[in-house]
Amino acid sequence: MKNKILVIGAGGQIGKELVEELCKIYGSDTIVASDIKADSTSPCTYEILDVMDAKAIAAIVKKHDINEVYLLAALLSATAEKFPEKGWQLNMVGLLNVLELMREKVISKLYWPSSIAAFGPNTPKVNTPQYTIMEPSTVYGISKQAGERWCEYYFRRYGADVRSLRYPGLISYKSPPGGGTTDYAVDIYHEALAKGRYECFLNSDTVLPMMYMPDALKATIGIMQADPDKVKIRSSYNLAAISFSPNEIAAEIKKHIPAFEITYKPDARQAIADSWPQSIDDSEARRDWGWKHEYTLDTMTSEMLLHLEKAKK
Ligand code: SER
Repeated sequence: MKNKILVIGAGGQIGKELVEELCKIYGSDTIVASDIKADSTSPCTYEILDVMDAKAIAAIVKKHDINEVYLLAALLSATAEKFPEKGWQLNMVGLLNVLELMREKVISKLYWPSSIAAFGPNTPKVNTPQYTIMEPSTVYGISKQAGERWCEYYFRRYGADVRSLRYPGLISYKSPPGGGTTDYAVDIYHEALAKGRYECFLNSDTVLPMMYMPDALKATIGIMQADPDKVKIRSSYNLAAISFSPNEIAAEIKKHIPAFEITYKPDARQAIADSWPQSIDDSEARRDWGWKHEYTLDTMTSEMLLHLEKAKK
């Protein structure tokens, strides 16, 4: 039986690390990484692929005997607000192109990420439940909510084994974030080490759900490895680890760099952040397929600063 995995959007913040991790787990000869731009540093077979091109996806799937896809190509919240039409097209057409391959049974398993952005200003902000008012107000969020509906539709109608998580803001030291509202929580570590100060584009008390990348990878691979009957939610699972404000992450950084200073100059991303939940109730993921996070703000901060410091030397 063929059992090769294709990662689409392998050059992004999640893609880069996910490819490394999948190569470690399954062997690099099992993984094919792809993105719209060339990458000579890929640890496995690499293909240039535009997710908007359904024929090209089908050709690569055939060429490499792919049966499992991780679809990570997307425009994130802040970038999609600048290019709404492109954000919608890329996020929606890309997903539907791969879902069609599921309907045709060319591939048998798909991972597609949703986001806390699928929620909106009328959503209960604290401990946001799995099932609640959504009404997203950004193009990115609208594309994620519509995507969730399509995933569930393809599961119900065609039996497509689609699995999805609503990621919080993701924090990593290996690759930069790609145009989201939660990017500050990565930038702040880089600037703290480089300059000892950071000007934050969100207000000091803006609490958002966040997660350290090793936890996000564990969740992603965890839901993909779960028995199909344990994956009861086929739209997208709430997923949570930690929640904090710029003020709180700054205080944590100060424990390591006492002279660190933060100032605030909110921009258009503040309105996006204000429309999102502050914390997420992910009890369904914990109950259904055993999700458990590991990192706290404290342990994540120690690791981030340690690794970024090492990389500077
Ligand atoms: N991190 C993403 C963003 O800020 C949320 O999914 O757009």
